[in-house]
Amino acid sequence: MIFDSGSPIGIFDSGIGGLSVLRHIHALLPAEHLRYIADAAYVPYGEKSEQEITARCMLIADYFFSQGVKALVVACNTATAAAIHNLRTAYPEHIIIGMEPGLKPAAACSNNHVVGVLATQRTLQSEKYQRLREQLSQETQTRFVAQACVGLVNLIEQTDMDADELQQLLRGYLQVIAEAGADTLVLGCTHYPFVRESIENVYASLRPGLAAATIIDTGIAVAQHLQRLLIQEQLQSQRTAEDPAQSGSIAAYTTGDVTHLHSMLNKLLQLDNCPVSALQLAS
Ligand code: DGL
Repeated sequence: MIFDSGSPIGIFDSGIGGLSVLRHIHALLPAEHLRYIADAAYVPYGEKSEQEITARCMLIADYFFSQGVKALVVACNTATAAAIHNLRTAYPEHIIIGMEPGLKPAAACSNNHVVGVLATQRTLQSEKYQRLREQLSQETQTRFVAQACVGLVNLIEQTDMDADELQQLLRGYLQVIAEAGADTLVLGCTHYPFVRESIENVYASLRPGLAAATIIDTGIAVAQHLQRLLIQEQLQSQRTAEDPAQSGSIAAYTTGDVTHLHSMLNKLLQLDNCPVSALQLAS
């Protein structure tokens, strides 16, 4: 199959979470055209079955590849755990990059070998996560204390996020991790970087007098991995981002509310001119 270095890169998530990965890809590869799908009609993925998530991911991959994207980034830990194998089987010649909670960098950073992992229920229950956790627990003698943050994605998706409700939810979820003494926290869902500051503050308030926890977010690592694969396959854009006429573009699509995604792009990434279109994916 022939791919074109000038083609766009497809990135998707259940909602706005994948934008926390897109921002790193855009910063590292400003000459690339990026296309983003928020599958907002189906958010949150973390509370759906693996079959349902896989079916959504296949529809999105079919759409993106029919549009000629040169690489696909599954900017969602939950979708990666559920569907990356099926996506790679269906599209063996394409570059498909997934995300997984950063247990490995966390184990390397932790001084006391206790790491807290925040992720969706579906990610933590997945075979992929369980295998990774077992392997790294043995190899690094690290204790991983996992917490499924049910309801957190929905709160982050709301534009009028109520600060008190968020603090309360986080306090409940971080309490167990603080009691276990974790000095490192993994953000195992791409929505969570958008409330990173609240996570840091609530966690610090639960551990008075102790040093701030190290936070692990794998968004940058995923962007760097994408860059390496594009170079290796000679698919990196030949445009020069310094010339505004040649720099990359960003366009977004949503299976949910167009106005909502538009305002979130503006609020979270200051992309007020990014075109947003409605997308229907027939199953
Ligand atoms: N942002 C996604 C993740 O990284 C999933 C959120 C959801 O829809 O539950 O896991």
